[in-house]
Amino acid sequence: MIRLSKSVIGNEEILAVTNVLKKEFLGMGEEVFKFEKDISAFIGRPAICVNTGTAALHLALQACDIGDGDEVLVQSLTYLASFQAISASGAKPIACEVNSHDLTIDLNDAYKRLTKKTKAIMPVHYSGNPGNLESIYSFAKKHGLRVIEDAAHAFGSIYKNKLIGSFGDICCFSFDGIKNISSGEGGAIVTNDKNVINRIKDIRLLGVSKDSENRYKNERSWELNVNEQGWRFHMSNIMASIGIEQLKKFKSFQQKRKELAKLYQKLLFEVSEIEIIDIDYDLITPHIFPIKVKNNNRDLLKTELEQNGIQVGIHYYPNHLLKFYSNYSLPKTERIYSNLLTLPLHPDLNKSDIDYICKVIKSVF
Ligand SMILES: Cc1ncc(COP(=O)(O)O)c(C=O)c1O
Repeated sequence: MIRLSKSVIGNEEILAVTNVLKKEFLGMGEEVFKFEKDISAFIGRPAICVNTGTAALHLALQACDIGDGDEVLVQSLTYLASFQAISASGAKPIACEVNSHDLTIDLNDAYKRLTKKTKAIMPVHYSGNPGNLESIYSFAKKHGLRVIEDAAHAFGSIYKNKLIGSFGDICCFSFDGIKNISSGEGGAIVTNDKNVINRIKDIRLLGVSKDSENRYKNERSWELNVNEQGWRFHMSNIMASIGIEQLKKFKSFQQKRKELAKLYQKLLFEVSEIEIIDIDYDLITPHIFPIKVKNNNRDLLKTELEQNGIQVGIHYYPNHLLKFYSNYSLPKTERIYSNLLTLPLHPDLNKSDIDYICKVIKSVF
C-alpha cells in the first residue's frame, strides 16, 4: 500500500533516543534547550518548544491575553486543532471562508465577521502555503488584531524571500509524526515578542515562574511561585532528541517533498477533471498534496485509488459543521470540501510512486 503520509525515521533518531534513555533524564532538559537553539538558529528568531502544535497555538493565545469573551478569526477549512486551541484558551473561533484558488483565509469574508470582541486572526498556511500574508498583516494592523500564524504545515516555506516564522507577530509550528520535520509529537512558538516568550516559558510548565531556566540545568524549582494558570505542555528530551536529528535532515526532506509535488503538478496538469491548488513549489515546502476533483467525482476517484492500494485523505472536514462549533453555513467552504482529495506525499515516496498514482487517476477520467 502507498501511504498517504508517514514518519521518516533513520538510525540517527534511534541512536539519539537511545542516548537520552541511557542518560535517564527524560523530561525537559538539555536536549529541549538544544532543539530550541537549533530551531531558533534555523529561523532567526527566539523559539520555545512544547509538546504539540495545538499547545503552541493555545499558549500563544493565552500569552497574548486572549481568552474568555474574545473572538479569533480562523478559516473553517483547517485541522480541528486550530479550533480546539482557540476554544481551549476560552476564546471563540469565528469560522471564515477560504479563497478557492489557494485555500487560505478569505479576508473579505473575515471582514464581515469582525466585531468589537475580535482580538486576533489565525491564518492557516494550508499545505505550507501562507497565501497573501502581507494582506493578512495589513488587515490585522488596520483592525488592531494580533496575528497567530498556524504554520503547522509550513516549516521551511518561504514568503517574499523570508522563511516563515522569521518575521511577523507569532508563528506556531507542529512537529507531529508526519510533519515536514517531526519530534514524534511536538510544536514550537517563534516570535520576537519577549513578553510572549517569557510567559510561555512559564505556562507550558504549570505556570511555575522561571522554572524553565532551572530545567535546562537539570534542576527544578522547589520553592516555587505561580502567577497564572499553566499547563503540562512542555517538550521532553526524548522528543527533542528526535527533532534535533530531523532538523539536520530537513534540506533533503524538503527537496524530496518539492520534487514530488512538482511531478504531481506536471502529470496532473492536463487532466481536465482535476484542479491543482495554486502553489509555487519553488517557495513552498508542501506538507500535503491536495487536489480538487470536479463534477462530483471526488468519491469515485477516492474509491478507485483506494482499490489500487493508494491511501488518500480529505483535508479537512470544515469545523463550522461540527456540533461544538456550528452556528452558520459557509457555502464556498462546503462546496470546496466536497471536491477535495489529498494524494500521498512524504519523503519516502519515489517518482515511480507518483507516476503510478497519476496513471490510476488518468484511468478514471
Ligand atoms: C493546520 C494544523 N494546525 C494545527 C495542528 C496541530 O498540530 P499538532 O498535531 O502538533 O498538535 C495541525 C496538525 O496536524 C494542523 O494540521
